[in-house]
Amino acid sequence: MAKWLDNAVFYEIYPQSFKDTDADGIGNINGITEKLDYIRELGCNAIWINPCFKSPFGDAGYDVEDYLTVAPRYGTNKDLTNLFAEAHKRNMHVILDLVPGHTSVKHEWFKQSMKPGKNEYTDRYVWTDCIWVEPEGMSCIRGISDRDGCCAVNFFSHQPALNYGFYKPDKPWQQPMDSEGAIATREAMKDVMRFWLSRGCDGFRIDMAGSLVKNDPEGLGTISLWQNIREFLDKEFPDAAIISEWGEPDKSLRGGFHMDFLLHFGPSHYNDLFRCDKPFFSSSEGGSAAEFVARYKESRERSGGKGLICIPSGNHDMDRLSRRLSPEEMKIAFGFLLSMPGAPFIYYGDEIGMRYVENLTSVEGGYNRTGSRSPMQWDNSQNAGFSNAPCDRLYIPLDPTADRPNVQNQMSDDNSLINEVKKLIAVRMNTPQLQSNGDIEFIDLNNDTLCYIRSGEILVLINPKSKEQIIDPDHSDGGKTISEKMKVPERNSNGELEDCIYSYGCKAEIRSEVLVIPPRSCGFYRI
Ligand code: NOJ
Repeated sequence: MAKWLDNAVFYEIYPQSFKDTDADGIGNINGITEKLDYIRELGCNAIWINPCFKSPFGDAGYDVEDYLTVAPRYGTNKDLTNLFAEAHKRNMHVILDLVPGHTSVKHEWFKQSMKPGKNEYTDRYVWTDCIWVEPEGMSCIRGISDRDGCCAVNFFSHQPALNYGFYKPDKPWQQPMDSEGAIATREAMKDVMRFWLSRGCDGFRIDMAGSLVKNDPEGLGTISLWQNIREFLDKEFPDAAIISEWGEPDKSLRGGFHMDFLLHFGPSHYNDLFRCDKPFFSSSEGGSAAEFVARYKESRERSGGKGLICIPSGNHDMDRLSRRLSPEEMKIAFGFLLSMPGAPFIYYGDEIGMRYVENLTSVEGGYNRTGSRSPMQWDNSQNAGFSNAPCDRLYIPLDPTADRPNVQNQMSDDNSLINEVKKLIAVRMNTPQLQSNGDIEFIDLNNDTLCYIRSGEILVLINPKSKEQIIDPDHSDGGKTISEKMKVPERNSNGELEDCIYSYGCKAEIRSEVLVIPPRSCGFYRI
């Protein structure tokens, strides 16, 4: 099932800001199609596009007005199916962003649901039965409908929550998961999936996947809902992939997701690595990957090898990677991202270290996220090659700094971030042991390093810090010694580890029987 995920490396595209081909200041679908060769040349073979459907854009498209129609500002349904076809010609896959938890207030379902008389959509959303009764623990929309009741919201207060039922209903207005209304919502969402999958889409990134069933603290109801949807996909679209924005792999993978994202929220400690006061990948002292590793191991064990965990470089909701890390530090971070199990995701522009643009006014519900959504920087031409519109018409202003990175400059510099990322993707593509499904075993050296063995054959040694790390191979963390665990690799007469398939910075070496991991280095060695 969805075999193509085995060696997938994704590129996330925020369509507003990627490439504008009709000079209206906002990116479009044809712009993405035009840049497929760029993405392919980088090495990525899959893309995720943020929501591109008709919407009032109060939350950048995560407030859908019509799941079946491309937003006119991005083009037409035909442009999107053409993008699928062009991607497939290049051996690439495309996933769309599906928002099943809520719609915009402008969706026809919601308009019908607001009516006082009973109709097909009366139970499509989570409503209380009286305007004076608010849904406990949830915000709501009230006072805008003739229908007597409050409608729960899922995120912003203009995003009414779709009704998939309550795991344990305990109020008269709370419907069980097997009620007619809840089942109709689930089936309607399957129809949306069918619509796009049968037109060439390869799967979905699922927004707030863990939020669907209410009063469901352990996620058990939501897990069974997704199992039902996965069953449908396996039957009708066995190659389709579903990837969850959930951040709790032990739940989502049990629910049948092929893959779950680690996120800037939730229990994963993902941001200990990249976005906290002392990120592990910063070369300065402090910071540790230990809690991240502990949670990661626990999640893998708890999900019983059922699916994959994917670690993004960033996304449209997080600070840019470059806000805390220098280009050199980012190279080592990419060494990690591209050698972990699960399919890696590169957020557009992270491959050149695009910066978070400070102090922007919020655009379309972006707020602090707006700075991570600025236009892609392609070259040195007008508007950095993003658009031919006058610069005051751009959807979000460009990074104003004189030395902002761009693709053209970095491509011609052998030491650039983009060239390191390209090298790393190529190594991953040529090394099945490093790909999505290969096993991982962590070896606990100390807080300043990350060390793991992929598929029993590739040793990854990462030291982002500015001090060399000296490891006694006879050291044991309770069980086997480190040298027993690592099967310390062959070395040449200088002591350098012999069979190195990738290195950034100096190679690790064995000196007087101790393992030395040089400062600011990352290496992959066959053992
Ligand atoms: C998560 C999305 O990534 C975010 O951008 C959006 O605002 C919320 N879900 C609501 O859909």
